[in-house]
Amino acid sequence: MARPVHQYVCQSCGAAYPKWSGRCDACGEWNTLVEEAAAPATPARAGGLGRGKAHPLEFVKLAGPAEGLPRLLSGIGEFDRTCGGGLVPGGCTLIGGDPGIGKSTLLLQLVGLLSRSYPVAYISGEESIDQVRLRAQRLGLAGAPVALATATDVRDIAAAMDAAGGPRVVVIDSIQTMFVDTLDSAPGTVAQVRASAQVLIRIAKRRGTSLLLVGHVTKEGLIAGPRVLEHMVDTVLYFEGERGHQFRILRAVKNRFGPTDEIGVFDMTGVGLAEVSNPSELFLAERRGDVSGTAVFAGIEGTRPVLVEVQALVGPAALGTARRAVVGWDSARLAMVLAVLEARCGVSIGSHDVYLNIAGGLRINEPAADLAVAAALISALSGQPVPPEAVIFGEVGLAGEVRGVGQAELRLKEAAKLGFSRAIVPSRRQGQGPRGGQTVAITEIDHLSKLIPLFAIDRPAANLRSGLTLRADKARG
Ligand code: TYD
Ligand code: MG
Repeated sequence: MARPVHQYVCQSCGAAYPKWSGRCDACGEWNTLVEEAAAPATPARAGGLGRGKAHPLEFVKLAGPAEGLPRLLSGIGEFDRTCGGGLVPGGCTLIGGDPGIGKSTLLLQLVGLLSRSYPVAYISGEESIDQVRLRAQRLGLAGAPVALATATDVRDIAAAMDAAGGPRVVVIDSIQTMFVDTLDSAPGTVAQVRASAQVLIRIAKRRGTSLLLVGHVTKEGLIAGPRVLEHMVDTVLYFEGERGHQFRILRAVKNRFGPTDEIGVFDMTGVGLAEVSNPSELFLAERRGDVSGTAVFAGIEGTRPVLVEVQALVGPAALGTARRAVVGWDSARLAMVLAVLEARCGVSIGSHDVYLNIAGGLRINEPAADLAVAAALISALSGQPVPPEAVIFGEVGLAGEVRGVGQAELRLKEAAKLGFSRAIVPSRRQGQGPRGGQTVAITEIDHLSKLIPLFAIDRPAANLRSGLTLRADKARG
């Protein structure tokens, strides 16, 4: 009789080893190997294929009518937009996020609204029926015709999904609690998560059911266990937010049916998540325009412009090495902007502690924020506020040149909408037409050094702290 074969599988990358060790050789993570039963080896016949008759494929032409089923719209605009215009029938969406961030709340609200138009099911492997009902009452969804069940055995769930008149939308909360009984590893391990997802996705595709899987996130910020899960699903959404802040951001990081980098913004209230349709207002709500070290960046998140405040604090370093701390932006890009300021603009900031923060807890990935960051830094160093009526955007190159960025019109429009009357932007390239119909006064700059006189020159020299002296003074003299 064949003994069951055991192997040690890395819970981070899925690599398998015959022996345990403290560190995974494939991804370098420590303490991630867990013993699991190996999948039964397939008989290695000709070409690695087993017995059984092959049926030749029936090819069709690429050109032809694509009979796409209409998407399912929930009515939560922020969610529908983030997943590219509603849920796709047969599509599988993975929603990842830290524990307690609001995944279950979001999905319960979602199915509550969808249940008005479609048969929907919410399957919880984590909470009892009573707990889910209590939450539904709190969300004002007690009367919604949602089919509710608690289950963790994928076989039972598969049967329910496959039954005649089965649901059009199924939520599995969470995929880490599900198991298939043909594997003897514990729920939550790579093998179980992968096998469970495979079964559920196959049925969803065959029946045209929209499947929503909740996935927990590890402390490293990846969906727990397997990266493989991200490859298996059609759409990956991350639900994120800072602990201390009440708003939450739903971010599309992979989408086979729509754009990525789209975000939806929500506000966690006492009665569930509320949509925030104008995030700029939220991010700028507590801004005080008259202090130094802040600049408003006109950014783009997905298809939507978002205005955020960049805050910088600069002070002489107390001990030998200067400290750099960044929240909400890339620390490598901060280092680059600092180096360019130093090397190309003569702003000596190297011996200072630098703290940079994107107010409100948003995380910005766009290089277009370089110029706003530089403005906040110069302002913090000189003690002079950036003109409060101005928004700033532009990418900074290593030579100090200010480079153009996409969707300038959209950024300017949003700035005008929020009452900004001035914009500091990259110079237009040749061949670009005039900017039409803007109520915003535009200051174009082509080099980072031109930013300095905009708010540091013509001020009493006493106001300029030690660092910011050279170029601005030279330019005057
Ligand atoms: P939950 O959806 O359970 O998070 P997840 O499924 O991602 O683990 O959200 C739980 C948090 O949300 C909890 O800290 C309480 C808070 N919350 C509210 O503030 N208001 C509400 O109406 C609800 C339902 C939850
Ligand atoms: Mg939950």
